[in-house]
Amino acid sequence: MTRVIKFGVIGCGLMGKEFASAAARWFHLTDTKARPEIVAVCDLNPVLTNWFSANLPSVKQITADYRELLANETVEAVYCAVPHNLHHSIYPEILAAGKHLFGEKPFGIDADANRKIQDSILAHPNSLVRCSSEMPFFPGAQKLINFLRAGDLGDIIEVEAAFLHSSDLNPDKPINWKRIVDMNGAYGCMGDLGMHVLHLPLRLGWKPSRVSATLVNRFATRPDGQGNTVPCETWDNATILGHVDDDRGGFPIVLKTWRIAPGHSNTWSVRVLGTKKSAYFSTKNPCRWQFMTYAGGAGVWSVEDLGFESLFPAITGGIFEFGFADAIQQMWAAFMDELAGGNANGFGCVTPQEAADHHAILNAALIAGTTNSVQHVSYFE
Ligand SMILES: NC(=O)c1ccc[n+]([C@@H]2O[C@H](COP(=O)([O-])OP(=O)(O)OC[C@H]3O[C@@H](n4cnc5c(N)ncnc54)[C@H](O)[C@@H]3O)[C@@H](O)[C@H]2O)c1
Repeated sequence: MTRVIKFGVIGCGLMGKEFASAAARWFHLTDTKARPEIVAVCDLNPVLTNWFSANLPSVKQITADYRELLANETVEAVYCAVPHNLHHSIYPEILAAGKHLFGEKPFGIDADANRKIQDSILAHPNSLVRCSSEMPFFPGAQKLINFLRAGDLGDIIEVEAAFLHSSDLNPDKPINWKRIVDMNGAYGCMGDLGMHVLHLPLRLGWKPSRVSATLVNRFATRPDGQGNTVPCETWDNATILGHVDDDRGGFPIVLKTWRIAPGHSNTWSVRVLGTKKSAYFSTKNPCRWQFMTYAGGAGVWSVEDLGFESLFPAITGGIFEFGFADAIQQMWAAFMDELAGGNANGFGCVTPQEAADHHAILNAALIAGTTNSVQHVSYFE
């Protein structure tokens, strides 16, 4: 029988609503051990909490004070989707209240904030803690992962992982918290998009030992929406070049987190080139993945169109397309499966260790980019 796990949501904005929608159509999935039921919501903005109560009859508690939600004994697990500057204070309180935690990336505004979160996770081993990152749940990404895991890649020539937005291409777009250093962090675009590009490389064991980075702040001012022009100090685009050590001299890893990428809306892509195996997937062409097995002669890419070949089976017909909202639901299915004692069908959500590793990389990239240097990456064990 499917177990019901009662959730509280702290932060009912863009991502809080995505979870609500995924939970509300849980019957879309045909084989899950557990299902989330949102019983409590917290946001400072009553318009948002009212949206939850209007759409989800299961919501019994509405509050603007997250401590009231944490005191609710019916809440077993919490999804927290608040601005980055609040992660290091709220996540530990969620754990101290005895709840499981699904936290949004970047899991702390910077490496120090992440350390505080990691310490609280160590102090509360009975809580399951995972970090959000949904793009690897696209069927094409899953194909790529399984293909690479299945066997000999030969020598890896290069790994490139990118997340390309056009969200900041318009200089007249008013500033919001994601463009303010105090709330979004000195990482800028790397804090927003870094976990997305690193989830898959870290899962496949590719951790750069050193990095350099080119950081771009193309629009240093923005309108504030009230007729004024204000400073916009966050990095718009970051291109990180890392070196991953292996017993063959290592290989480069290129990580692009761009919020100004003309022609892109929300493109997440991974390309792995090896002397024996190569693979490529991009959400720009979400039905399709490409792969090559090279054994001499011409290098020929194979191209396969995919339907709804999801990690967790669903009612959608096998030939139909998969999209962002589906990736969100698949990610949640993986978390719910782990909560119910499963192994997330072999591909779990980002772990606290992976979140810490991504901070180590972003922290080094920030120093490298602002000092025009190459930085050693110090991983926390
Ligand atoms: N996984 C993804 O693809 C993805 C995409 C976008 C954002 N995010 C992450 O999700 C988190 C939230 O981003 P968002 O886009 O949903 O932002 P958002 O601004 O839409 O929502 C954040 C909400 O938090 C609320 N909030 C602020 N302080 C609060 C407090 N003290 N108590 C309760 N609520 C409070 C705000 O009122 C707001 O509604 C961030 O960590 C961000 O990096 C993840």
